[in-house]
Amino acid sequence: MTKTRRSAGWYGKLDRDGFIHRSWMKNQGFPDHAFDGRPIIGICNTWSELTPCNSGLRDLAEGVKRGVWEAGGFPVEFPVMSLGETQMKPTAMLFRNLLAMDVEESIRAYGLDGVVLLGGCDKTTPGQLMGAASVDLPTIVVSSGPMLNGKWKGQDIGSGTDVWKFSEAVRAGEMTLQDFMAAESGMSRSKGVCMTMGTASTMASLVEAMGMCLPTNAALPAVDARRMALAHLTGKRIVEMVDEDIKPSDVLTREAFENAILANAAVGGSTNAVVHLLAIAGRVGVDLTLKDFELASDIPLLVNCMPSGKYLMEDFCYAGGMPVVLNELGDRLRSAKTVLGGDISAYADGAECYNRDVIRAFDDPLKPAAGLRVLRGNLAPDGAIIKPSAATDALLEHEGEAYVFESIEDFKANVDRDDLAVTPDTILVLKGCGPKGYPGMPEVGNMPIPKKLVQQGVRDMVRVSDARMSGTAYGTVVLHVSPEAQAGGALALVKTGDRIRLSANEGRLELLIPDEELATRRAAWQPDPPHYTRGYAKMYVDHVLQADKGADLDFLVGKDTRPVTRESH
Ligand code: FES
Repeated sequence: MTKTRRSAGWYGKLDRDGFIHRSWMKNQGFPDHAFDGRPIIGICNTWSELTPCNSGLRDLAEGVKRGVWEAGGFPVEFPVMSLGETQMKPTAMLFRNLLAMDVEESIRAYGLDGVVLLGGCDKTTPGQLMGAASVDLPTIVVSSGPMLNGKWKGQDIGSGTDVWKFSEAVRAGEMTLQDFMAAESGMSRSKGVCMTMGTASTMASLVEAMGMCLPTNAALPAVDARRMALAHLTGKRIVEMVDEDIKPSDVLTREAFENAILANAAVGGSTNAVVHLLAIAGRVGVDLTLKDFELASDIPLLVNCMPSGKYLMEDFCYAGGMPVVLNELGDRLRSAKTVLGGDISAYADGAECYNRDVIRAFDDPLKPAAGLRVLRGNLAPDGAIIKPSAATDALLEHEGEAYVFESIEDFKANVDRDDLAVTPDTILVLKGCGPKGYPGMPEVGNMPIPKKLVQQGVRDMVRVSDARMSGTAYGTVVLHVSPEAQAGGALALVKTGDRIRLSANEGRLELLIPDEELATRRAAWQPDPPHYTRGYAKMYVDHVLQADKGADLDFLVGKDTRPVTRESH
């Protein structure tokens, strides 16, 4: 006997409502048997020409549909807001929570039994997972997959990472503008996400480490035919998952998040993973905190991909991809259920490494300890983070004088002044770039080095802000300072000339001024007037949580799995 499904509340009724739900769907040519009680599978698609990284998702949706039909389901594709990281202003992160709302309400409002999330570009993966987790129907992910390796003048070049290098080289007079422009076309040669271990590939890798997709999903190139086959197999699997009732809350457990944190260290993943994992955990009720990220502090860097290493995602795929990384993590992995119904250890079974320079063995790593460091101190009472694997070792213990930029406009107007009072030991401080301040917490934390220092050959300095940085970026960059300046954090009180001490080893970030002086400055402090006074951005600023809580909106934390009973007509 066919099980009564959630979708029966839309398509299984023999009354006026059932007529209306079915009849309008039939205008697309679906036959009667599509409504015979089979699982209705939503394919939640972030395809958009304005999100080039996700421009292959229309094709992959067709692959998913083949698999759903083959397994006896009924696939229905629907669009949700897409977030093109390189195209949106002021920052795609401002809209991650809006995408999450779109996904959540779309899944809840429609007669679906299970969902396949098609995402890729940085914020699309976490936004989709946050929304789907709050409805908690059976859900599985298919990622865009990375672009092919960038190629220019006979060398491999990586999305983002080489852009930062090239633009510094132009500022230093070491690269012509003509070469700079020519590199553009060679960098992005196919559909897909950034082919460095940026935020998109980091999140895809962590989704695989959490068992929310089929094995090998993270690294298969976007245009590799095997990704289409993986989409097909995912379509088959979601139909089975509906029958087995495997929901995000079964997979996204504390153990799964801990596996993601371990994997993030091993792959040299993006600092952005911190805010995204915290936000997703908040949706499923896992009490994840910044402190939990310290459990990876002794995990070595295994994946030799930019920005922490030298290779690219195509190389990572051909070397064996995430199954090899999970295999290397071995017993350190927590036991956790996956979308396949078994344990995550099965994702590593039989994994063979085909290039040990790309994926190192656990006892022969690229760097001995690659986990993100959580920093605390009077400058970041609620925490800040730094990525040692992308930093200069000698700067990880550093004390210097602050040079303060009060806003991104102040920074852009003054950073290249010849008379800027900075030395290689100066600590650059940028305010007003947190969730409320910018708003949206943009990726500007890896501030370009002042031109006068670039011309002296300086390529890294300690930088401190309440911003994020691109997963493709590198440097000794302290990020996500919480509370942010606009929320009255101590960052707002720093003045040029103050001394700051960074100790990544001790996990400290200290503003070396007396408490009384800090109190005097605090009493005189006023927030900046808001940039937005209407619409979504106003709602965001009024409700966004700080970075140490995942920068979700306060009223979106948690889930609501109650059935929708009221009809529209
Ligand atoms: Fe979309 Fe990098 S900009 S994945």
